[in-house]
Amino acid sequence: MHTQLINQFNEVFGKGTEPRIFFAPGRVNLIGEHTDYNGGHVFPCALNVGTYCLVRERSDQMMRLYSMNFEDKGMIEFQADDLLYKEEHDWANYPKGVLKEFSLKGIRLIHGLDVLFFGNIPNGAGLSSSASIELASAVMINELTRSSIDRLELVKMSQHAENEFIGVSCGIMDQFAIGMGRKDSAVLLNCQTLEYQYSPLELKDSVLVISNTGKRRTLADSKYNERRSECERALKNLQTKLDIHSLGDLTAEEFEENQHLIENETDRKRAKHAVLENIRTLQAVKKLHAGDEEGFGQLMNDSHLSLRDDYEVTGKELDAMVEIAWKLPGVIGSRMTGAGFGGCTVSIVQKSAVQTFISEAGAVYKKETGLTPEFYVVEVGDGAREIIHI
Ligand code: GLA
Repeated sequence: MHTQLINQFNEVFGKGTEPRIFFAPGRVNLIGEHTDYNGGHVFPCALNVGTYCLVRERSDQMMRLYSMNFEDKGMIEFQADDLLYKEEHDWANYPKGVLKEFSLKGIRLIHGLDVLFFGNIPNGAGLSSSASIELASAVMINELTRSSIDRLELVKMSQHAENEFIGVSCGIMDQFAIGMGRKDSAVLLNCQTLEYQYSPLELKDSVLVISNTGKRRTLADSKYNERRSECERALKNLQTKLDIHSLGDLTAEEFEENQHLIENETDRKRAKHAVLENIRTLQAVKKLHAGDEEGFGQLMNDSHLSLRDDYEVTGKELDAMVEIAWKLPGVIGSRMTGAGFGGCTVSIVQKSAVQTFISEAGAVYKKETGLTPEFYVVEVGDGAREIIHI
């Protein structure tokens, strides 16, 4: 793999000194959806697929970026100090946004760079290919400029780049999971305080399976921002009586007693999801620690129902995939993962049932929707890093 990428690099940029290789994973969230920007908890893990980033310093100030995933966009070129968002720079606005974050801290590259990107996460599938590009770029620039910025700060800078440079008001979950992920563990993160705790993923006789519905999340960004505003309005209404910072501060009982303060019915439903999903996440992690996989799976199912009925971010493809999974033998739990509106589901499936799961779910889903799904058995990997090769 690495040799192939290096050959590709030399083909694109010409032979020279050996490029350095950086890697950032994708992520899958096990439970705690649309809770991060509501001051709640999330429970994601990093994958072993992600974005590779090969880099060699140039002698001039040019930045030349090429992605093997967007070959039709060709070589993207700009001066290292020309860090304006440009529509035509397309995917390269992600690394550019991260460079801008460094420049805001007064950190500039001394030389321009030749950079080759290659990602083996499906794009637009809700596994955070964009946060993966951001973190691969952040770790790379941190190393090249010998800046020693700590990991959490790189995570925050990447989220800030996505919020300000790209214009998507995402929470911190994706960048955090990708920057801080740990092999064979999920991470329970309190998105309000950023306190976190790793949880070894020791499933007994089961594995995690990601099912890609093949439906891309086209509307995601606008609807995503809409959900954020609905929750913010609900919070404002609740704050007229309650001394709270976020929806994540509420217990189920407190929500029940005070939900009448939320003026708009839709906002009330959105807030209900945010509050209960946060509580579910904490319960689910407790169950996993106690070895109760069935209990964890049940809460995953409840999470999906809440995302479908109260938060309304699923859509017919995600619902079809999850409902098919629920009926198959050996499925302990199944839900949509990520922003929603398309993309992937995540399921806990007994090892002995995985092959049947993939063939049955594949066939039924295709019949119901006309789309061809893909399945991946998840391997949980480490967070973003340089790959030292010999
Ligand atoms: C996207 C965002 C995250 C999070 C999820 C939903 O992946 O980038 O911050 O809000 O959606 O849980």
